[in-house]
Amino acid sequence: MLKDKKIAIIGAGHIGAALAGGMVRANLTRPQYITASRRSAEALAELKKKWGLAVTNDNVKAARGADIVLLAVKPQSARTVLSELKGAVTTEQLVISIMAGIRTETIAQALGAPIAVVRAMPNTPVLIDCGATALACGKDAAPAHLAMAETIFKAVGSVEIVPEALMDAVTGLSGSGPVYIYMLIEALTDGGVKMGLPRATALRLAAQTVFGSARMVLDTGKHPAILKDEVTTPGGTAIAAIHELESKGLRTVLIDAVVTATRRSQELSNQSP
Ligand SMILES: NC(=O)c1ccc[n+]([C@@H]2O[C@H](COP(=O)([O-])OP(=O)(O)OC[C@H]3O[C@@H](n4cnc5c(N)ncnc54)[C@H](OP(=O)(O)O)[C@@H]3O)[C@@H](O)[C@H]2O)c1
Repeated sequence: MLKDKKIAIIGAGHIGAALAGGMVRANLTRPQYITASRRSAEALAELKKKWGLAVTNDNVKAARGADIVLLAVKPQSARTVLSELKGAVTTEQLVISIMAGIRTETIAQALGAPIAVVRAMPNTPVLIDCGATALACGKDAAPAHLAMAETIFKAVGSVEIVPEALMDAVTGLSGSGPVYIYMLIEALTDGGVKMGLPRATALRLAAQTVFGSARMVLDTGKHPAILKDEVTTPGGTAIAAIHELESKGLRTVLIDAVVTATRRSQELSNQSP
């Protein structure tokens, strides 16, 4: 679908570069058709060497003539970059933004035309092609635009389509979620260490347990409660631990974490330019 499409990545930092790498590895378009833009000359040279991308520090040059303009700068740079791109991006192009908290309407308004905008909320595992990304369409984006965005993000993980009003909830769940899981892995590791396991062994066991359990949920399609019941022997170790987790409110804490992060995302979205 993206064969021979020209793609400009404005702000090719961690996530922008990971998306470029994913597109190259998945052979979505030719590497030289992807233009990476950022200010650091060293970082651009690295991107050219690693992936064979076209590179520039001129955002307008990158965006002109591209079929897709992917905005991957930090939200605090949005105002500057969008005002730079005003007039350079036309209604013939698709804009995909990963800038957290910046609404499609704000982007189209700043670009000064009814441009098709698709908003994406990826998470950091896109760096290893295991991301979870949610996409939301702006009012001038057509199904074909959404399909192009979906193709890009599927190269680096899974994709869900949501109404834009739910993007803050996505930020609270999967956008911020890797942090919750890192804390879980760290705590499980400490539990193993407390009970005598060498730390490196405990860390590998904890991380692989999280990874394997996630794969069980995704691959079997079974409800997590069923998977839990299947491994809970009457009078055994798991039910003893479940009692402890329930009495300390593990599930409530995790629900509250998603609610609090979603509310913070809403606050930040309301403050955005
Ligand atoms: N990290 C996450 O988990 C996550 C999840 C979802 C969404 N996001 C969103 O993804 C975006 C990028 O995040 P990131 O973690 O990839 O940040 P990052 O590594 O800092 O990447 C942003 C890049 O933008 C470049 N930049 C800054 N000003 C610029 C300008 N005026 N023109 C062109 N390039 C410019 C910077 O490079 P130079 O200094 O070389 O210009 C930098 O490499 C953010 O908007 C964030 O909200 C991040």
